[in-house]
Amino acid sequence: MSFHPICGLDELDPKEPLKVETADRELAVFNVEGEIYVIDDRCTHGPGSLSEGDLDGYVIECDFHQGGFDIRTGEAVIPPCMIPVRTYAVKVVDGKVLVDFDKPAITCANKVSAAEST
Ligand code: FES
Repeated sequence: MSFHPICGLDELDPKEPLKVETADRELAVFNVEGEIYVIDDRCTHGPGSLSEGDLDGYVIECDFHQGGFDIRTGEAVIPPCMIPVRTYAVKVVDGKVLVDFDKPAITCANKVSAAEST
């Protein structure tokens, strides 16, 4: 129902996903040319950590079995992944990345330009 800060915008490397751990979640955070996306870090196919995968455009490839997900929608786009990964609504305020854990990105603004945050 509300947005919670998970990291600073300046912690995000455009080339490397960031793993963020909260009290009850592990998240993978992406900065794609200033657009911020947050998904569950755990691959839905197995024990892979998506923040350790390779990002190609908007597709994160799990380094465990090379399955993939669209980070904008959570859709499984490369087998063996079949089950979508959870996405979260994101906004950026005062240089901080905020996430609403109750809203998937697809029903909200699923991308937030970092430039809009200032
Ligand atoms: Fe991620 Fe199998 S654990 S593709």
